[in-house]
Formats: sequence, C-alpha cells, structure tokens
Amino acid sequence: SHKIIYDTDPGVDDAMALFFLHYSPDIELVGITTGHGNAPVETTTRNALYLAERFGIDAPIARGAAGPLSGEEAHHAAFVHGENGLGGIDLPETVALQPIDQPAHRFIIETVRRHPGEITLLAVGRMTNLALALREDPGIAGLVKAVVIMGGAFGHNGHGGNVTPAAEANIHGDPLAADEIFAADWPITAIGLDVTHEVLMTTDYLRDLAAEAGDVGRFIWDISRFYEAFYRRKGLDGISVHDSSAAIYLVAPHLFETRRGAIRVVRDGLAFGQTIQKPDRFGFPPGAWDGRPSHAVCTGVDGPALLDLYRRTL
Ligand code: BDR
Ligand code: CA
Repeated sequence: SHKIIYDTDPGVDDAMALFFLHYSPDIELVGITTGHGNAPVETTTRNALYLAERFGIDAPIARGAAGPLSGEEAHHAAFVHGENGLGGIDLPETVALQPIDQPAHRFIIETVRRHPGEITLLAVGRMTNLALALREDPGIAGLVKAVVIMGGAFGHNGHGGNVTPAAEANIHGDPLAADEIFAADWPITAIGLDVTHEVLMTTDYLRDLAAEAGDVGRFIWDISRFYEAFYRRKGLDGISVHDSSAAIYLVAPHLFETRRGAIRVVRDGLAFGQTIQKPDRFGFPPGAWDGRPSHAVCTGVDGPALLDLYRRTL
C-alpha cells in the first residue's frame, strides 16, 4: 500500500479527496499537513482536525504556512468554498483534536527521512509547505517515492486557468513555491485543470453518493451545496473533480495520459501563476527550462472510470 502525506487546504474538494484516501484500501495516510489556500490556515487546520475527528481518520495533523513565500498576503476563495471552507455548514469553532507540535514542513522532512524511498507527497493546496521543506532539507528530493500535485493549467483539452485565464489557484496562490518544487529533481506528476475540468460530478451523482455512502455521503452532499452553486453560475452541470482526481491518480495512474517535460511558473505580469511545460520530445533553442528536471503532466483522463472508482471506494 502507498504511504501518503496529504498536504491540503480543506476546502470542499479537499475534504472529498481526504475521504477517498481514508477509505481506499491501497492507501496508508501517514500524515496530513495544512496550509493557506481556500481559507486561512487557521480555518483549513480546524477543518482537517474536524474531519479527522468526525470520520475517525487516524493520522497526525501538522499546521503549515499562513501565506506565500513572497511574504505577500494570502488570497482565499470564500466565494467557492464558503467562509468556513466547508460550504458554510454548521461547524464547531474548535475541536478536541489538536495539531502536532511541529510545523508542516518539518513533519514532511522527518517523515520522509524516517521512511526513505517510501513516502508519496500528495499536495492539493498551495505548494508553500513543500517548498519550505525543500529549502530546509534539499536532500529529501532524493528520498521521496513520488510527488503528486493538483495544480496548474497547461493548455490541454481547451482548458485555461480558474483564477485568471492563465493561472490555476494552487499555483497562483504561491508561484514562487511552485517554481521551486518544479526545479527540484524529484518525480512530480501534475494533475491540473487540463484533466480536472474534464471530470464532473453531477447533482445526480452526488445524490446517489448521499444515498449509498452513509454518513460520509450525506456529509459530502451538505458541504457541496454552496460549491455546486458556484459551478452552476459558471455554467457547469456539476462540480469539477480537482483534488480527488489527484488522489485517485495514486491508486489508478492507468486512468490518465501524461506528457513529460520541464516545467516553469510565470512569476510576474499578465500571466502571473501560469504553468508552462517544455515537452521533452520537442527541440527548442536554449531557454529558461534548461537544466530543469523532466516531470509528468496529465493531459487526458478516463472520467467515467474515475467517477466510478470514487463512488465504489466510498
Ligand atoms: C484547486 O484550488 C482549490 O480551490 C481546490 O481545492 C483545488 O485544490 C483547484 O484549482
Ligand atoms: Ca485544494
């Protein structure tokens, strides 16, 4: 089974992906790290603790970065995930469960060093915690098994960004951190909007989950009402499957097509936060991608199979 550290900013779709990880027999969740993103880090941490307590998810939770590496203020997405990050459902201010006494990036370093070659980092929020871990201990790059991220928009399948036409939220929220993690020589697979905007959970799908997946299914129904209304205003007939697509990649990579190449992140100007891959198989004159390691970007997905696997797992 895969040992996973889940770096997350819950977040409606983050919570849904957490349930997949928890119920998947092939995954061992060795820790949860939180960060700024869909809501402030205090809120995303409270949400992770609440979810773990309520659904009996037994993994240490470490609180992470409050803002991007640049020191600028963090931007949140209350209009997508609700002020409380979980679609505005009733939540307690505090929960009995407490985070561990160690910041997220240290927890990542220690855990990777304790299990060399065994840990997969699944990052579905801003890349700040991963970048901080790399800065403090670059040696972990050679010790992780894999890095799977939900992030980026690489222009495949006609999809652009979601924060701007060029940029996806997890990259836009800390482009410097993202550029640093893509510069490191560890095996990254990026699941971006190119594929997550290809997979939709319709209202009927969510209603079936609510009927078939017990307490967790009903909980998903409750937290997804606000989120679904956001996507409906965008003209979609359901919710895009962002973070769960990345979680599913861990156990079912055969459902995805990938392309390899070095990745850069635009850090200023109109395209701030854009991710650009230089495909290995094309020749280009020397440029900003040279000397960077090759990573995999998902370009295609079997949506129906992915949705079926999620449903059966829950
Ligand atoms: C990503 O941004 C967040 O809003 C979601 O949780 C997901 O990780 C999608 O762009
Ligand atoms: Ca997320």
